[in-house]
Amino acid sequence: MTDSTDRRTIVITGASDGIGAAAARELAGHGHEVVVVGRSPEKTAAIADELGVEHHLADFADVGSVRRLAGELGAQHPRIDVLANNAGGIFAKHREATVDGHELTFQVNYLAPFLLTQLLHENLVAAHGTVINTSSAANKLFSRFDIDDLDAQRRYSPRRAYGNAKLAQILFAKELDRRYRDVGLTSTAFHPGVIASSFSAAPGSAMRAVYASRLAKLFLAPVEKGADTLVFLAEKHPGIDYPTGEYFVDRKPAKPKRQATDAGLARDLWDRSVAMLADV
Ligand SMILES: NC(=O)c1ccc[n+]([C@@H]2O[C@H](COP(=O)([O-])OP(=O)(O)OC[C@H]3O[C@@H](n4cnc5c(N)ncnc54)[C@H](OP(=O)(O)O)[C@@H]3O)[C@@H](O)[C@H]2O)c1
Repeated sequence: MTDSTDRRTIVITGASDGIGAAAARELAGHGHEVVVVGRSPEKTAAIADELGVEHHLADFADVGSVRRLAGELGAQHPRIDVLANNAGGIFAKHREATVDGHELTFQVNYLAPFLLTQLLHENLVAAHGTVINTSSAANKLFSRFDIDDLDAQRRYSPRRAYGNAKLAQILFAKELDRRYRDVGLTSTAFHPGVIASSFSAAPGSAMRAVYASRLAKLFLAPVEKGADTLVFLAEKHPGIDYPTGEYFVDRKPAKPKRQATDAGLARDLWDRSVAMLADV
């Protein structure tokens, strides 16, 4: 149980299932004020009821839904200590566009969390808060990041789109940390491990064969293991207990793909993301 002076308000997206739900359970168990965000009304209400915490719904494939979510969270929580941008996944074989006209994987894993973070900026700064992005080792394995083709108009494969979005989450964490560390708002990204969750479980999902195979189930780690670094980053003191602006694996800073450390690319991505969201 945490000391009452260190009780934090922790918003976790993708908390209706898998790694996010496991992190919510652990952090609520430690006495923090956890706010769960999910897409499925039934799953989100079930975890919120189990933990006795507040919940919100949003579909990240719809920018309007993210704006509504930010409005609710912002009004109810003037101070947010931790925003865990954890919702995400890998999707279907063929490129799909969202109602906002962006490639689905890019929007759900990166652009929607980018927007949510922008809209909660004041609430995060008020708490000297931190933003934790659930990235993936896919940033190294699958990305071929092209700043001129963020929406994968020219080249799409589900793995590449996923790797690119997870690399964008690292660039975003680094740029957010660089811009606002001096006013007390920090950020990190992390890889949770290869985890047995509902990840890639949907029919037609690109890595379903890998994650659903009987052999894989023997090697996949439990969701609690996937939540471990998230819980560590959320509870410890950013900048004191661990360095910010970094990509973590197993609670330690690790090397992402070289492109993810390109400060010029991070600035460019930030500016283009703002422009992409200007008219939606
Ligand atoms: N499992 C792994 O091996 C692994 C490895 C590296 C990184 N990751 C990352 O870890 C994070 C959590 O994944 P997980 O393994 O816990 O998978 P999961 O069990 O499938 O959970 C995914 C979560 O994201 C939410 N979500 C998916 N699409 C959404 C959308 N359009 N709008 C809003 N929320 C949406 C889901 O909400 P609903 O259930 O309510 O629809 C669910 O809460 C993801 O970012 C994933 O990319 C996972």
